[in-house]
Amino acid sequence: MPTIRLERVSARFSGARAGTLAIDSVDLTVQRGEVVAIIGPSGAGKTTLLQAIACALRPMQGEVGLFDSSPWALSRRRLHRLRARLFLAPQVPPLPPRQRVVTSVLAGLLAHRGFWTSLRSLFYPVDSQAAQAALARFDIAEKLFDRVDRLSGGERQRVGLARALVSGAELLLIDEPLSALDPTRARQAIAALVGAARGSGATLITTLHQVEVARASFERIVALRDGRVMFDVASAGVSDAMLRELYADHEDELNSQLEGATPYAYTLPGQLELARPMTCR
Ligand SMILES: Nc1ncnc2c1ncn2[C@@H]1O[C@H](COP(=O)(O)OP(=O)(O)OP(=O)(O)O)[C@@H](O)[C@H]1O
Ligand SMILES: [Mg+2]
Repeated sequence: MPTIRLERVSARFSGARAGTLAIDSVDLTVQRGEVVAIIGPSGAGKTTLLQAIACALRPMQGEVGLFDSSPWALSRRRLHRLRARLFLAPQVPPLPPRQRVVTSVLAGLLAHRGFWTSLRSLFYPVDSQAAQAALARFDIAEKLFDRVDRLSGGERQRVGLARALVSGAELLLIDEPLSALDPTRARQAIAALVGAARGSGATLITTLHQVEVARASFERIVALRDGRVMFDVASAGVSDAMLRELYADHEDELNSQLEGATPYAYTLPGQLELARPMTCR
């Protein structure tokens, strides 16, 4: 049974103009443990697709299957439980002002715990070692007790990714993890995410603007344009010609990457301890 099964899924935002679909008749099947990048020009529907997979957005049409269930046929309580098995990391993580980094990272664990344990860990960050280890993967461990509202944009983004790592979720859905990161940090972040997924057998789906990163580090690439899947192939099969067609009229988003860009070559750790959720001590 696949982890994700979307059949002819169409979705639009409430408030969007009638007739305009953010994703349009999308078919997508992802097996457990796959590492998939979603690429495509700005406005193509990448974030919307991630939200539809996460059951954060109810499609207007089509069928969504997630972990052997039909989420939109479930009661609210069972839907909530189903969502606890995945982690959706938005591009800009919601970090409450004045919160400490450690608390913020450990919030990634909350969905997987009982109410009282969660409440306790909010006041007493008992898993601070787990948070620190996750932050170290993104080279930001020294910020453990800093306030999140005093971090730079890139630092906040890395805190959001550390949060995904500690979640121990079976399905990681990460929206634009590299948008605020320099190339070195970007390399680290991708190595940490892909390594954690491979180590734990979790499924990883990431939207990306960096096509070279997608080709180098992801097994499979799903390309969206105007809300439709333009191609869905093994990353080794993605040619420059396919990318040029995908980004036609959006060449500025692509050219700087294809021309003279240093190819990304990542060494990915096989197993990472962080792949499993850390338990309360
Ligand atoms: N909150 C919203 N309300 C109405 N329409 C929206 C909203 N967010 C996105 N859209 C529209 O839905 C379509 C798909 O947007 P989406 O954010 O999924 O694209 P994207 O591929 O993630 O783009 P980007 O690369 O810029 O993040 C676009 O046409 C966009 O204008
Ligand atoms: Mg987006």
